[in-house]
Amino acid sequence: MACTTTVVGLRPNLKSINATTTGCSIKLSSSRSGRSQMVIKASGEHDVAKKSGKSIQQCEADVVAGNAPEAPPVPRKPAAPPGTPVIPSFSLKSRPRRNRRSPVLRAAFQETYLSPSHFVYPLFIHEGEEDTPIGAMPGCYRLGWRHGLLEEVAKARDVGVNSIVLFPKVPDALKTPTGDEAYNEDGLVPRAIRLLKDKYPDLVIYTDVALDPYSSDGHDGIVREDGVIMNDETVHQLCKQAVAQARAGADVISPSDMMDGRVGAIREALDDEGFQDVSIMSYTAKYASAFYGPFREALDSNPRFGDKKTYQMNPANYREALIETYADEDEGADILLVKPGLPYLDVIRLLRDRSSLPIAAYQVSGEYSMIKAGGVLKMIDEEKVMMESLMCLRRAGADIILTYFALQAGRCLCGEKR
Ligand code: PBG
Repeated sequence: MACTTTVVGLRPNLKSINATTTGCSIKLSSSRSGRSQMVIKASGEHDVAKKSGKSIQQCEADVVAGNAPEAPPVPRKPAAPPGTPVIPSFSLKSRPRRNRRSPVLRAAFQETYLSPSHFVYPLFIHEGEEDTPIGAMPGCYRLGWRHGLLEEVAKARDVGVNSIVLFPKVPDALKTPTGDEAYNEDGLVPRAIRLLKDKYPDLVIYTDVALDPYSSDGHDGIVREDGVIMNDETVHQLCKQAVAQARAGADVISPSDMMDGRVGAIREALDDEGFQDVSIMSYTAKYASAFYGPFREALDSNPRFGDKKTYQMNPANYREALIETYADEDEGADILLVKPGLPYLDVIRLLRDRSSLPIAAYQVSGEYSMIKAGGVLKMIDEEKVMMESLMCLRRAGADIILTYFALQAGRCLCGEKR
């Protein structure tokens, strides 16, 4: 059953039910599965005073004559525990706690919401038929593209998560220094896209554009003899990769490579092939982060030598994110992404304030695995920390969040527990 919950706490519309039917009260309660159930109860739960049959004028006259009907007395002041110091109250004009004192008030003043529609679910796929667990990412699997992938997507759609991004584990024998498998139209990703679109035409498929899963060097670009990552030649390959993905039916092409000029070049390549309606989500501020460790294990895509610091950004830099933002906006990006997520909330806020484009945040593998590990070791409450971390990304300014928790959090928002 598809879940229609869009925001936390949203309840089914009761207007269609005659709630004023005398003698009945309607109550919503949550079943164990979390779905709201309507309970219609006979009166008696609340003591409703018997009607006397008096007119409005008679009722008003009674009150004017000083014979007000009875109502419950003012409740007594709750007692403080013995030993509580007796002190004069502070004379504070502002007491911010007033707006937090009950669940109803807190809900009324909540500024940020999480919904399954905000999530993009990253999925690892491989050529195998079985799903294989990823050691460094508890709960994540390399999914068989014809079986496990379809099942996982069905589960996500059931809780309102209808956007995914695909990451392929490519056989070593297909990896080359120039990553040409990246634009093989019958490669793993294009095949998986065609299968998914055939089964779920309204699924929104994001694809990763970068050479690392296809590169025998494990780098996002072509590596020159002296170790330099070649920018323009790499972009040439990325354009072919983007077009192959668009041709298979991808909705949003997401370059994560950090080469200069790739957004404009990919836009032009897509347009030249008639894919004007295919979007580009640029990894605008992608930092050279140690938080990607588990992901590289998942895809077996660790760089064979060196690191990615000549193309991914220095984690110490903030202003530099604006240089990338203005370039990507100018080159025609539709969505700007910040990665990693939680350690880079300031950068998310920076892009949110400086650009009108939608902002995406990527809660990366290391962030996911730390929360999972803390939960398994009973050091933190996994579910609460998961939801809080996602809410914080939204509060910082992210419109959408790429997260390995998409299904688990989607279930949570639908009131389903696993
Ligand atoms: C590679 C790519 C990476 C991630 C997404 N695309 C890894 C990297 O740059 O080395 C990381 C995602 C994660 O850690 O969850 N282009």
